[in-house]
Amino acid sequence: MTMRISVILAPDVAAEDELTGRSCVVIDVLRATTSMIAALDAGATAIYPVAEAEDAWALRAQLGDSLLLGGERGGLKINGFDLGNSPREYTSEAVGNTMLAMTTTNGTAAMLAAARAGASPIFIASLRNAPATARRLLREGRDAVLYCAGTNGRVSLDDIIAAGAIASVCEESRSRATLTDTGKLALAAYRLASRDVAAALTATIHGRRLVEIGFEGDIRYAAAVGASQTVAQFDGLMVRVAGHLLR
Ligand code: MLT
Repeated sequence: MTMRISVILAPDVAAEDELTGRSCVVIDVLRATTSMIAALDAGATAIYPVAEAEDAWALRAQLGDSLLLGGERGGLKINGFDLGNSPREYTSEAVGNTMLAMTTTNGTAAMLAAARAGASPIFIASLRNAPATARRLLREGRDAVLYCAGTNGRVSLDDIIAAGAIASVCEESRSRATLTDTGKLALAAYRLASRDVAAALTATIHGRRLVEIGFEGDIRYAAAVGASQTVAQFDGLMVRVAGHLLR
């Protein structure tokens, strides 16, 4: 049986039945999923993606002060939170052996939407763990939907480039993964970007905005394709490490 890799280019073009019962990978390269992978790689044990800051505070009231709160609105740290949404903040000193609740404008919303739509399993990917995530999809051998979180429902090229990085590993494998038209589109975007991924991310609307507000270093960090071997899975409640896949 051939396994199909398709891409939802942005939430506004998502048909709910594309996700129901399907393997799904949620991608928000700039920056939510990059920050989550950074947190897990730094030793965070679990991340609760939540919709609003109030939900994060409510979870802290329930779970206690050891739960760290991270996320952004307008790209900046939310008032009273421990961490913003810069992946470089998520060091082992800051988050090692902790649990986190995170809320971001687009990324955590897309994760929760995928869970509501009944996608299963749901993986969380950035460019850094794109190859490891692709290997996991290949092991599963099931059709998979790469769900780009986008910006305010619209297409965000940075996410499509990362979807293409996953599609590229799937296409190059000796398994029988085939790409749908959206998969091929993402692959073309990744191939164009791969000469200089950081420059390609910087040239996106979201990339330019991050430069404006002083987070250029996050773009270089996010552009390191394959720097992490972590496979991260969201079970509808928490994101946790589901393994490490070197090959
Ligand atoms: C989001 O979820 O919208 C992003 O991660 C925003 C950001 O760059 O902080």
